[in-house]
Amino acid sequence: MPWLVEGLDTEGWRLPHVVMVMGKGGVGKTTVGLRLAYELSRQGRRVLVASLDPAGHLLEYLRLPGPLREVEKAPGLRAVQYEVEGVARKVAEEYSMLLRRLMPGLQALSIERAVEVIREAPGFEEEVFLRILSQLYQRRDVDIVIVDTPPTGIALRVVSLPGLHLFWVERLRELREKIVSIKYAIANAMGRPVEADDPVLKKLEELRGRYEALRREMTDPARTSVVAVATPEPLPVYEVEVIAGKLASLGIALKMIVANRVLGERARGLGFSEVEERSLSRLEEARCRADPPPSMALVAHMGRAPSSLGDVEKLGDYILEVRRGCSG
Ligand SMILES: Nc1ncnc2c1ncn2[C@@H]1O[C@H](COP(=O)(O)OP(=O)(O)OP(=O)(O)O)[C@@H](O)[C@H]1O
Ligand SMILES: [Mg+2]
Repeated sequence: MPWLVEGLDTEGWRLPHVVMVMGKGGVGKTTVGLRLAYELSRQGRRVLVASLDPAGHLLEYLRLPGPLREVEKAPGLRAVQYEVEGVARKVAEEYSMLLRRLMPGLQALSIERAVEVIREAPGFEEEVFLRILSQLYQRRDVDIVIVDTPPTGIALRVVSLPGLHLFWVERLRELREKIVSIKYAIANAMGRPVEADDPVLKKLEELRGRYEALRREMTDPARTSVVAVATPEPLPVYEVEVIAGKLASLGIALKMIVANRVLGERARGLGFSEVEERSLSRLEEARCRADPPPSMALVAHMGRAPSSLGDVEKLGDYILEVRRGCSG
């Protein structure tokens, strides 16, 4: 039986390498992510499985002691479930401090109220995920980070964020530069001392640097891989098509598509074979449209629901095929 990692160019990876596992809810993202983690750790890599999925199923799957507690589950295989609420509060507090520092007029705003307003702001959750992701890229104590992503819509917004932020930060920076030069001109004309540094401009430049670095990492195929998972059914396949399209437009490498819970001959008896075959060929088409084409792995239905690392090990007997390249 092949291993899933055969579908990934692990030789060319720069470390730490981030593998994001995406796909519709319930298709097997956690299972596939854990299987990759298991295989990579068996190859002697230090792997961290980090779940950003708010559903928090990783806790139960691996019987972790609780969120935000990183545990070594097997030699070289660590796992952690992030809890967005906890991280969000910290980020919101940081933002409200920053706001009060940069805009003294806001001093009257209570910190509690500011945190609440920021916490409820549209897009804030994505921002928190982005923060966690950027911290994961900086880990030096692991070789590979497997990210179990939140639902597709959120995951795709998170990977789009660095580019969007850069657009806004750049406009704001231009605006601030104008303001600063007017301030200088006025101070000069009035013979007042000129402040050396503008804190707002400094902050905007720092943000620009951070988002540029993150975008560079995400669009470097040696640094970031995406694995898209679907079961052979119309809606999960449609989500993989959406993921492939979005990633292509962002320049992020889709490295592998995994068709999970494939029934094969069993589908015939259940009257599913037409749907399954049609779904598999749609996945194959989506794969071969991409440039370069990702690999495709077929994983059979185990006949029961894997729910432990032991089951993930046994999943190895159900990996039917790993296809690479596209002919014609
Ligand atoms: N190859 C397989 N054969 C049989 N059952 C499977 C297989 N892969 C996953 N499952 C089962 O399918 C269900 C969904 O799998 P998993 O939890 O890995 O998906 P997920 O995409 O992470 O789901 P969620 O979006 O809810 O986090 C689980 O009950 C799991 O045990
Ligand atoms: Mg999951």
